[in-house]
Amino acid sequence: MTNAENEPDFEEIGRKLFAQNCDFIWAAEKIDGLPPMGPLEIAFAGRSNVGKSSLLNALTGRKALARTSHTPGRTQQLNFFNLGPDPEAPFLRLVDMPGYGYAAVSKEKIANWTRLMTEFLRGRATLARVFVLIDGRHGLKPLDHEMLEQLDKAALSYQLVLTKRDEVKLSQVENTIQSAKTGLRAHSAAHPEVIFASSHKDEGISELRAAIARLMFERDRKVFERA
Ligand code: GTP
Ligand code: MG
Repeated sequence: MTNAENEPDFEEIGRKLFAQNCDFIWAAEKIDGLPPMGPLEIAFAGRSNVGKSSLLNALTGRKALARTSHTPGRTQQLNFFNLGPDPEAPFLRLVDMPGYGYAAVSKEKIANWTRLMTEFLRGRATLARVFVLIDGRHGLKPLDHEMLEQLDKAALSYQLVLTKRDEVKLSQVENTIQSAKTGLRAHSAAHPEVIFASSHKDEGISELRAAIARLMFERDRKVFERA
């Protein structure tokens, strides 16, 4: 399927991709407890409560695939989900990460999560991109910059997704995107496009699906063609 510029219609392909089965397959609390590497992986990172699990549900069109919560610190492990009709040969794996910057758990727990995330991000050859979620009402904070620095160092591909767009005035949407882009200037490895999404209002979700479909096209043509 192609559009006028003769490139695949990523929005349509992304829509179909995320209409496939998606199943929780694995939770990892420790780095030696990760699932074996297989299909390309896309991870969702960001501060606690920013909306990572909600975004995963919105992408896959399921209400409760990933557990969400009003209280920060809901996701405490790396949770892996396989996407595709054949459980033996999934197209893609989605990774819901624990949030950073949540102080109301023990120091030991925070140290453990941080170690788990750092090691995962450094050592995962199949990790195609990390989507770093930023609360659209608050913008980039020092802790986010620390996360982005880590990703710069790990030489990983990453892209910002602003969340909770429905909470931001329409007149502020473009400004918010521009401020995030300005904040990204310090981070050379960042993807230049910033997506502003709402999981509650289904805004920016098809754009994100399209970005993921394009990534598959670039990184794993064989699977892309199968999908
Ligand atoms: P942790 O697992 O604790 O790190 O949180 P998380 O980043 O996975 O956030 P989660 O998806 O659990 O959502 C946190 C809160 O934000 C919940 O109360 C959600 O309902 C709310 N939320 C998530 N996405 C949106 C959105 O698009 N709009 C609005 N208004 N609220 C949202
Ligand atoms: Mg979560």
